[in-house]
Amino acid sequence: MDNTKKPMFERLCVIGLGLIGASFVQAVHNANHRLDTPLVGQITAADTNQKSIDDALAAGVISSGSTDVLSAVVGCDLVLIATPVKSIYPIMKLLKHAIDLGVLPTHAIITDVGSTKVAVAQAADEIFGAHHHFIGGHPIAGAERSGFNARNGELFVQHKLILCPSADSQASDFAKIAKIWQAIGAEVIQMSASRHDEILAYTSHLPHLLAFSLTHQLASHDDNLDIFRYAAGGFRDFSRIAASHPVMWHDIFIANKPALLNSLDEFVSHLQKFRQIIDQEDSEQLLDWLATARHARRHFGHMLAKKPMHKPNVIITPDAIKDTIMSQSYHIRPQNAISGVISVPGDKSISHRSIMFGSLADGVTHVTGFLQGEDALATLQAFADMGVKIERDGDKVTIYGVGIDGLKAPKAPLYMGNSGTSMRLLAGILSAQAFDSVMTGDVSLSKRPMERVAAPLRDMGAKIQSTGEKGTAPLSITGSQTLHGIDYQLPVASAQIKSCLILASLWAEGTTTITEPEVSRDHTERMLNAFGYPVQVDGRKISVTGGGRLTATDIIVPADISSAAFFMVLGAIGGGEGLTIEKVGMNPTRTGVIDILKLMGADITVANETVVGGEPIADITVRPSDLHGVDIPEHLVPLAIDEFPVLFIAASCAHGVTKLTGAKELRVKESDRIQVMADGLATLGIDSKVLEDGIIIQGKGIQGEKNAIFGGGVIESHHDHRIAMSFAVASSRATDDIIIQGTETVNTSFPNFAELANRVGLSIEVK
Ligand code: S3P
Repeated sequence: MDNTKKPMFERLCVIGLGLIGASFVQAVHNANHRLDTPLVGQITAADTNQKSIDDALAAGVISSGSTDVLSAVVGCDLVLIATPVKSIYPIMKLLKHAIDLGVLPTHAIITDVGSTKVAVAQAADEIFGAHHHFIGGHPIAGAERSGFNARNGELFVQHKLILCPSADSQASDFAKIAKIWQAIGAEVIQMSASRHDEILAYTSHLPHLLAFSLTHQLASHDDNLDIFRYAAGGFRDFSRIAASHPVMWHDIFIANKPALLNSLDEFVSHLQKFRQIIDQEDSEQLLDWLATARHARRHFGHMLAKKPMHKPNVIITPDAIKDTIMSQSYHIRPQNAISGVISVPGDKSISHRSIMFGSLADGVTHVTGFLQGEDALATLQAFADMGVKIERDGDKVTIYGVGIDGLKAPKAPLYMGNSGTSMRLLAGILSAQAFDSVMTGDVSLSKRPMERVAAPLRDMGAKIQSTGEKGTAPLSITGSQTLHGIDYQLPVASAQIKSCLILASLWAEGTTTITEPEVSRDHTERMLNAFGYPVQVDGRKISVTGGGRLTATDIIVPADISSAAFFMVLGAIGGGEGLTIEKVGMNPTRTGVIDILKLMGADITVANETVVGGEPIADITVRPSDLHGVDIPEHLVPLAIDEFPVLFIAASCAHGVTKLTGAKELRVKESDRIQVMADGLATLGIDSKVLEDGIIIQGKGIQGEKNAIFGGGVIESHHDHRIAMSFAVASSRATDDIIIQGTETVNTSFPNFAELANRVGLSIEVK
């Protein structure tokens, strides 16, 4: 712990050292040692049991404790009530008393972990009055064991924590409580207290009630010993939770009476219908209901199989938690002299596809120039998990293809990290396999829309469900479906949707025809042809007929124009002699960034054009340029879709206004790139107007000068590599230091970015 940094809270008191309270204390204690800025200065506790306090003192996780709440909370600015719901009311009364006595500061934030929230919120309103500092919380985590010694500092990692602010709660209190839970690994969700109680009534309280009820029913039979003796797995599975603590469930059932009774009434009437169906021997209906339930349970099992934040089978260490929270940053000093000749890593889109097609081909595929970024490696790992032998030596990859029908069921959910391309393209492949599968991703990927691939795949006959909250990952796919070709009009120009459907159509009966609204990158079409699989392209119409095979071929991955784009803009806006980026992929469906920069007046020359492995490449030289604002033509949007964050930096350095429209897609990339860029630009002193489908940027450039454009400031990457790299480029025209937080994400596409940027003149310190 770095004691020189001010902690988020001075003094925390946890009231109740049961499983949840003690685990919270342990988690905060661990985080204090792990993080640069400690979460809390001192931790104290209150518990009616002196032994729990002694144990906590002996374990070194609290610095003081008392059986008396009033003494324990003296001088605290955060109080967590972790007692059974029934005692929350009297404890709140005690806390109010402590405030009135002046021992608990009036600004102290009070929170709880009770399993019902309406009653607790009402108690807070009644006891603390208007504008109070109470925020109700409920961690969806628990364990069979209880008590201080059952504590687990990682209990909340990957688990949801529901916060239920009331109308009287303060936004700043909410933010602080959310932050402390996030820092110990929880995923914070906000909802109203009544919604919380309604949901928990269905998902937790009703199932517990039913388990207690059936077990009680059987226990009441005279011959109960015999019944239990012969009870098999069904009874054991169903009744497990009836072994939970009676007092705790008594309190919960009473505290959540209204919502629980609603769910119970609905259950009773549903059970009556089931009774009727059986009584009438309505086989069709009975089978239908059972099959629906089974299907839902299987999907639910897939959802439970993996929470969307961590890699499967990875033991969650403190380092892994740190990973999720993102703690690396770039500290950048302004540097204007930019010169050099560089090569950037391999193309991300082509690297993904090389693994996919190489795996599905007959024979051995050799890939050179493979991108060693986390995104492409996620695809590689997924195919290795499906039984494909893949050897990698740096950027050289050898894939021992298993043929079109050779993939094997993965043993665990496939983890796609930050990579939308992996998840969407694999959705097409997995929908056609004979086995079930699940795909998960990191926080950013788990927010991105997946119905755009799931819906047309369903039209083809796939059974695929986006099990996340809003048509999002995890994706659960049921195997052994027969797919058939469709005619599909893409609603957006997206190479990922197009490629997903092309991939699914390899196994579909008949022909699939996809029409794009605008041309998007065509690597899938080109590479399929290179692997000997015919694809018909007629303008914006692509047709593929299922049933063919792929033949292994060697692939040379060109340098990624999307990575080169950061250096193109840097060369144009920086001083010095400018930059040359060698052997960059120049596929015409990717070169929009060059067209747009040229429209803005950039001094760009393209030399040594040649074709390697079916893709055009060239050296690109960009010299310091006098940029001016432009209206970006909409037809260029899909051709430069990933380059807009850095183009916004160029637009800020131009003189005059730049306007982008027709780019709504930017809102569903690794982050909402329109809003996140506008926020970051505002931090650095650039005015912009956010449009629903674009942005208007007020350039601050002065014709003929290389004036400073940006101020200094702290930028958040939002788990988006291109946001982080774009603001690093901005430092070449900044007056002060720029700090970019969450820069681990750069490893997804451009692991040596900081090193290359420093080589050509920037000054990035990675911390
Ligand atoms: C990609 C397509 C684009 C792009 C992404 C890679 C691909 O996404 O933004 O980085 O490899 O097919 P959309 O298809 O969603 O536009």
